[in-house]
Amino acid sequence: MASSSTAALVPRHVAIVMDGNGRWARKRLMPRGVGHKAGVDALVKVVQAAAARDIGYLTVFAFSSENWKRPEEEVSGLMSLLLVALSKHLVKLKADGVRIRIAGDLESVSPRIRDALRGAEADTVENSRLVLTVAFNYGGRWDVVQACRAAMAEGVRPEELTEAVLSRHMAISYAPDPDLFIRTGGEVRLSNFLLWQSAYAELVFTDCLWPDFDADELDKAIAAFARRERRFGDVGASGQGEGALGGAAEPHPPSFSEER
Ligand code: FPP
Repeated sequence: MASSSTAALVPRHVAIVMDGNGRWARKRLMPRGVGHKAGVDALVKVVQAAAARDIGYLTVFAFSSENWKRPEEEVSGLMSLLLVALSKHLVKLKADGVRIRIAGDLESVSPRIRDALRGAEADTVENSRLVLTVAFNYGGRWDVVQACRAAMAEGVRPEELTEAVLSRHMAISYAPDPDLFIRTGGEVRLSNFLLWQSAYAELVFTDCLWPDFDADELDKAIAAFARRERRFGDVGASGQGEGALGGAAEPHPPSFSEER
């Protein structure tokens, strides 16, 4: 376990856009699918590294609502890869104390994929060391809309709809808001990932292509996080935006999930 002085510098929740698989493969004159396969291997290693660093929640963007626009061959390759990855890695992840959760619209994916994802959730439900949320057929805007619909279906009236109520209906309502949002692959955008939840996340963008991302890269991102002063709209510890570790005393944003 991290000591109380270092615990404040370790994000509780890390969100990752795993970008760059295609370019990683192209650099090696290989098909994009090879890059996605290497991406799965990187993910498994990063899950282990995150657990070893006492990160409680890791949320990764595996397949976005927009990824259906890719060539059919790539989409079906990703679906097959998902099934293979689950059958190959689930036993070890379970033994390592990882709880798998899925965020996304599973109504419109094939029953085979849906069953595999739901099965992984059920199989690891007893675990609590690290919650790995796989965002699959997920989009941040979809999430806000589905949360509004769920609240309305529950009978919440317009004047009763608050940020806390909406947060309770978001796809990852069980997790604190992400403290650290990492995007690999050199692009500097959120791409519709965890838009609501990342309001106060520290953003770290790296040129590292996802298959090359490893424990050292994770440590670099955590070090960048630890240097940030988190103010959450306030003036900060010094009152002058001190920077560096000035925000360490209050490292995490007020999160609605803590109220429940
Ligand atoms: C972005 O790289 C990556 C994805 C769209 C998929 C990420 C998936 C994994 C790491 C594998 C685990 C998930 C599944 C579904 C098995 P890109 O293809 O956009 O790369 P590029 O920007 O270099 O083209």
